[in-house]
Amino acid sequence: MSAIGLPLTRPDGPAKVTGAARYVADTPVDGLTHAALVMSSIPAGRVTAIDAAAALAAAGLLAVITHENAPRVAPLPNTSGPFEVLQNDAVLHEGQAVAVVVAETYEQAQHGAELVEVSYERHDARLDFRDHLADAVSVNTFQDPDSTVGDVDAALAAEAEVVVDEVYRTADRHQNPMENLVTIAEWREGDLILHSATQWIWGDRAAVAAALSMPVERVRVMNEFVGGGFGAKVDAFPYLLLAPIAAQVVGRPVRLALPKAQTYTGSGRQPATEQRVTLGARRSGTLVALRHTSVNPTSIDAGWVEYSSVCSRTMYACPAIETRNRVVHVNLPRGGPMRAPHEGVGMAALEIAMDELAVALDLDPLELRIRNHAEQDPTRGVPFSSKRLLDCYARGAERFGWAARYPEPRSMRDGRDLIGWGMASATMPSPRAASAARVTIDQHGDVLVETGTQEIGTGVHTILPQIAADALGVPPTRTRLLLGDTTLPTAFGSYGSSTTIGVGSAVLDAARTLRARLNELAADASAEPSSYGQTLREHGLERLSADGAWAPGGSPLGELDDVSIHTFGAVFAEVRIAEDLCIPRLTRMVGVYSAGRIINPRTAHSQMTGGMIWGLGHALLESSGVDLNLGRFISKNLAGYLVPVNADVPELDASFIEDEFDEIASTLGAKGIGELGAVGVAPAIANAVFHATGVRIRQLPIRPEMLLAATA
Ligand code: MOS
Repeated sequence: MSAIGLPLTRPDGPAKVTGAARYVADTPVDGLTHAALVMSSIPAGRVTAIDAAAALAAAGLLAVITHENAPRVAPLPNTSGPFEVLQNDAVLHEGQAVAVVVAETYEQAQHGAELVEVSYERHDARLDFRDHLADAVSVNTFQDPDSTVGDVDAALAAEAEVVVDEVYRTADRHQNPMENLVTIAEWREGDLILHSATQWIWGDRAAVAAALSMPVERVRVMNEFVGGGFGAKVDAFPYLLLAPIAAQVVGRPVRLALPKAQTYTGSGRQPATEQRVTLGARRSGTLVALRHTSVNPTSIDAGWVEYSSVCSRTMYACPAIETRNRVVHVNLPRGGPMRAPHEGVGMAALEIAMDELAVALDLDPLELRIRNHAEQDPTRGVPFSSKRLLDCYARGAERFGWAARYPEPRSMRDGRDLIGWGMASATMPSPRAASAARVTIDQHGDVLVETGTQEIGTGVHTILPQIAADALGVPPTRTRLLLGDTTLPTAFGSYGSSTTIGVGSAVLDAARTLRARLNELAADASAEPSSYGQTLREHGLERLSADGAWAPGGSPLGELDDVSIHTFGAVFAEVRIAEDLCIPRLTRMVGVYSAGRIINPRTAHSQMTGGMIWGLGHALLESSGVDLNLGRFISKNLAGYLVPVNADVPELDASFIEDEFDEIASTLGAKGIGELGAVGVAPAIANAVFHATGVRIRQLPIRPEMLLAATA
């Protein structure tokens, strides 16, 4: 029997819907105390005085920790640069933790935090990065910010018959996971136990150990369920370190649970971007030049690069391609990853520009993509491990009914509603990261998969046992997963759409090794999986385990020297816009994806439709505006930060090219899928809005007032 490919349902589903699933904040800990943060109210300057007297006199108060009395710690590592956590008086942005209050209860801690009086010296703040584009600088956080093949200027001058050259803007966006940022810290004889709502227990362990100058072995990080992350819980941010510091000060376990509003500055966000895309093409539609540049704001002290232009390095065949990514330092929190970072943002600009080029050429937008299909990676000059994008275009067009589209904008109507059809391509890299796993079978034939990954809602309790069951030939219902603990085999973080390919391949390796041992033990290479338990009993073994690992090598982004590994897709959108109100509504969406072997069609489908809903938010709703007087995000809650709700979401048609097996990408044949679903959606919708209205909006989200202003 083959378990891979079955649409198994989630074994952890009942626990989640009945409330039995235990999240970090629910962890019972004896003698637990509670911490609350005091956050800066100015965007730039320094703390001149902190008066904690009133707070300390309040009921239940145990401590007020500030830069004046905090234990000295080393900087907290983070991908974009280290954090100084309560080590000096500098205020780099509004909403920076300047004090931690610890009390017997959560409410007492929150009340105490309100009683702490902080005095500041306010300095001039730099807030709108668009006012400082001339000061943009180049930072390399994990890949080269620049790339060049061919000569773009020469090709534009000599060969381009049609040129599109436009600036596109995307907004600051917050991840808004349902579970807020939360850590519980407990010291036991010099060892630190952290219950952390994190996407990477091993990353938390390394960061906290470095800041506290401890060996990593003395830090244990755990979580059972994580209530979503979407990038907000990938990297270490100060709150993570403040819980163990507070626990050290009060000599008791501490829970630091940030209220919703504090999460807006407590972790990263997807920074706004200003991107310029220049496309030069022949009349036939063939691209001859492509330049894509991007600038994003980052904090004063660090450089989170939103690598928006990297998608243009691989997406279309073109002899001359230049990409550039820059940052501007401002007095706002640094950015961080947010679902489909880099490509999700960059493809919005590239794919609106491609639509503009199609209009300029009087060519069908889908036909333009097909004519520029990249048979190999145009920047690296190497083949793709697998790529079925042309099949995605063909099947997507068929499922959507694209052939019935009238090309002229404003030409499709239903009563008073304008109808628009738009499309876009999608691509993501497929990060391949080393992971380890252990698979154990007992005398009853029950199988346990152990690996230090995290359950962030993607379905690892479904697919990792499914992979082990498939390799062992046992029923998936007899297989379960233990995760979320740094005492388990090491796994990569739950981000970058990397879990199935990486942790899944490690589980596959362990299960294959275990099966080989069981066969040896049975002295019969054809031992029946149903007799594994009996084999163990005959040998007097309670259980039998095998360790497995996957160490793919290559770059962290999954590239090999001679192959590029990417996923692809084609997205088609229909919008309906009441002409007098100009409120765009998504009415239909079709996405077809080329993403390697699909382990579980049900959870995979759910990943893609989830991604589409993220893309819908990107296109029409999500924006964290900054108040330029106060230097703070205007709405630190879901009343002012708009996300799609059920009523906004129509039937979503997501499917995969099923017979793809990418043996170069992984032993499993799989590639990363999760974030691919969030790519291409926003530009497909933006292009549909143009098709409906004839108004080209080069800014996301597209708000009704922009359309009203343009049609007034
Ligand atoms: Mo995702 S932004 O890699 O959590």
